[in-house]
Amino acid sequence: MHFFRYRNGELYAEDVPVRELAEAYGTPLYIYSYSTLLRHFRAYDNAFDGVPHIICFALKANSNTSVLRLFAKNGGGADVVSGGEIFRALKAGIPPRKIVYAGVGKTEKEIRFALKSRILMFNVESESELMEIDRIAGVMKVKAPISLRVNPDIDPGTHPYIATGLKEHKFGIPIEAAFEYYKLAERLENTEIVGIHKHIGSQITKVSPFVDALKKTLLLVDELKEHGVDIRYFDIGGGLGITYKDEEPPVPRDLARSLLPLLRGRRLTIIMEPGRSIVGNAGILVTKVLYLKKGEEKDFVIVDAGMNDLIRPSFYGAYHHIQPVEKKRRKNILADIVGPICESGDFLGKEREMPDVKPREYLAVMSAGAYGFTMSSNYNSRPRAAEVMVKGKDFSLVNKRETYRDLVRGEVVPGFL
Ligand code: LLP
Repeated sequence: MHFFRYRNGELYAEDVPVRELAEAYGTPLYIYSYSTLLRHFRAYDNAFDGVPHIICFALKANSNTSVLRLFAKNGGGADVVSGGEIFRALKAGIPPRKIVYAGVGKTEKEIRFALKSRILMFNVESESELMEIDRIAGVMKVKAPISLRVNPDIDPGTHPYIATGLKEHKFGIPIEAAFEYYKLAERLENTEIVGIHKHIGSQITKVSPFVDALKKTLLLVDELKEHGVDIRYFDIGGGLGITYKDEEPPVPRDLARSLLPLLRGRRLTIIMEPGRSIVGNAGILVTKVLYLKKGEEKDFVIVDAGMNDLIRPSFYGAYHHIQPVEKKRRKNILADIVGPICESGDFLGKEREMPDVKPREYLAVMSAGAYGFTMSSNYNSRPRAAEVMVKGKDFSLVNKRETYRDLVRGEVVPGFL
């Protein structure tokens, strides 16, 4: 459920016409709905009410400070994968004790920053990383709180680029080996075992992979307990899918219904790391039609947003629904919706049956709140888009459009030129 709806043929973001925002701030423009964000965040929070839990929003999906502030104000934590994300989370007011830090390539600088910030735990992905964290904690004379990211070898049934929990993947520690790694961690002087972590993939549209992965990992938790290793935090990862087209993914309540019976009665605090399912349908990308180009077999609708603004269609062949901001009765055309970038792979939609739109008219690319702006780039020296948040009738710019000057900020011309 989201709050982008037509009223009298005009698309609204909550109570504000999308056209008004596009005219005020220009395009391409990301628009986020406050009420949708809050509703999705609470759906998780309420679903897992039966057990102690922290909803650690995955910043990689959307790291805008105002989006994070909204979650922080409602008790949310953060799942981060870089020093930059720790910085953002803290800046937005997320308490360090609600920050969990994953990623296979944590650098010394990032580890130091995380230790100094006193985050809740490092989700450790390899033996060498474990040793490095222990070493750095020793130098800093602190104890590093750690959990091991285990790879349960469960197929999440999703796009190969976003599955993470199979043997072939670079993520986590094979579940068969994890016990030994825990034993090793126990012997380390500057490391304290506090948790366990798993994350098997993204855009998962069934509950069963979550259940299978949880069961498998709980066996390990029990085995560890028998051997005196007490796990306090169980981070069950993120990954719940959303509806882009016709998917019917479970909602957090469905997930909780299947998982809670396995978790109740254990002295565990459950951590979840949802990204997409909270922000995905809470955001749209508004773009303007620039030109129409008639082809032999199909038409091209050339718009002012490209793969640098939203890379998902080009990168994963992902589907995003594209609809006109003004709905009028008109004939349909078959068209590719393409951006201005000099790559054939620069498209937002291919072979779409869509209304016969006109230049200067606005289109809304739906479900763009997750992995939209965060994956955007300056390719072709295009300033990154502006971001706006709407709450009821109220709205505010939450990130200014980049300028040409921003593009060269930091560039230095050496004296020999
Ligand atoms: N936790 C970890 C350790 C992760 O690696 C991820 C996502 C999440 C949580 C959040 O997963 P979510 O709830 O959003 O599915 N760029 C891709 C998605 C990459 C996901 C990477 N990891 C896309 O646009 O589809």
